[in-house]
Amino acid sequence: MKERIAEKFKTLFGEEGDFFASAGRINLIGEHTDYNGGFVFPGAVDKGIIAEIRLNGTDKVCAYALDLDEYCEFGLNEEDLPNQSWARYIFGVCRETIKRGGKIAGFNTVFAGDVPLGAGMSSSAALESTFAFALNYLFDLGIDKFELAKIGQATEHNYCGVNCGIMDQFASVFGKKGNLIRLDCRSLEYEYFPFDPGQHGYRLVLLNSCVKHELVGSPYNDRRASCERVAKALGQEFLRGATMEQLDAIKDRISEEDYKRAHYVIGEEKRVLDVCDALAKGDYETVGKRMYETHWGLSKDYEVSCEELDFLAETAEKCGVTGCRIMGGGFGGCTINLVKEELYDRFIATASEEFCKKFGHEPKVIDVVISDGARKL
Ligand code: GLA
Repeated sequence: MKERIAEKFKTLFGEEGDFFASAGRINLIGEHTDYNGGFVFPGAVDKGIIAEIRLNGTDKVCAYALDLDEYCEFGLNEEDLPNQSWARYIFGVCRETIKRGGKIAGFNTVFAGDVPLGAGMSSSAALESTFAFALNYLFDLGIDKFELAKIGQATEHNYCGVNCGIMDQFASVFGKKGNLIRLDCRSLEYEYFPFDPGQHGYRLVLLNSCVKHELVGSPYNDRRASCERVAKALGQEFLRGATMEQLDAIKDRISEEDYKRAHYVIGEEKRVLDVCDALAKGDYETVGKRMYETHWGLSKDYEVSCEELDFLAETAEKCGVTGCRIMGGGFGGCTINLVKEELYDRFIATASEEFCKKFGHEPKVIDVVISDGARKL
């Protein structure tokens, strides 16, 4: 990928730049909890974005998306918002950096990536973090890592229409090889947990339903709004820390839909903590159980699943897979599966065959390795 980028950069701009990279992410458990002030448990993966960048001495950004074969030029003022959606991510990062007092100027860039798009693996966070990290480095801005993640998140909010939480950008910036990270999204305290399922005879694999997950202008924002309404009815800033008893006590004052959404979120808080404890003891069976519970909570209460994802979860269960659930925002994308080494081949073969029979195409198998986040190459 790096070579292809370098070649294009040379052809387009006749020079060489610096290389920066960042990663997509998985999340073992803790879904739709980040914007509720709860816990998440993500890790960066070995699939991400690489960008070559060089300052060009103007006030314009000249950007080329190698995978799409598209070029875009834009200025750095608010009214220069580009049309292409991929360019809006870079533009948003520039704008959010400027809003935080960062003095930046124009640059040339070519970038490419291997995070599957629309799979719920945060290709957009990888793009944002790559550029937030790079601008901080190239202009020597001294912005701390949390603020880099927040620049990415604010880009989603203000330039891409997704009211997302902090998880994806956090994982993409803070990711560390071989580690998952438990983040408390209220206090922003975090802890690295070494994660090596192979050592315990397990493998982690994603199955992409290839149903395109699209969060922009999606019911994602509605889910968040539901949670905020319930938190307000409870007199809290976030749903975090609320109990099922408290929720039941206000049941008559909220809609049935909002009740279901909050029911899922409150249950998920405990599941994340359980999984962290279980993992520390090497108890992968408990990890797996909680994953299934999350899946069905996301499907029945949070209603962000789809037929294809439910089918993959049912198939996993039939095949004896330890844990399986929707990963990321939902509405399509992948399941994340924790499977015993000896069951792996049969599971993949059965899931592919059965899925194909029902939906006319195979799910895509994505093996992931937990890797480093944003960095200079
Ligand atoms: C998307 C958002 C995240 C998070 C997840 C669901 O990936 O970007 O902030 O809310 O969905 O856990």
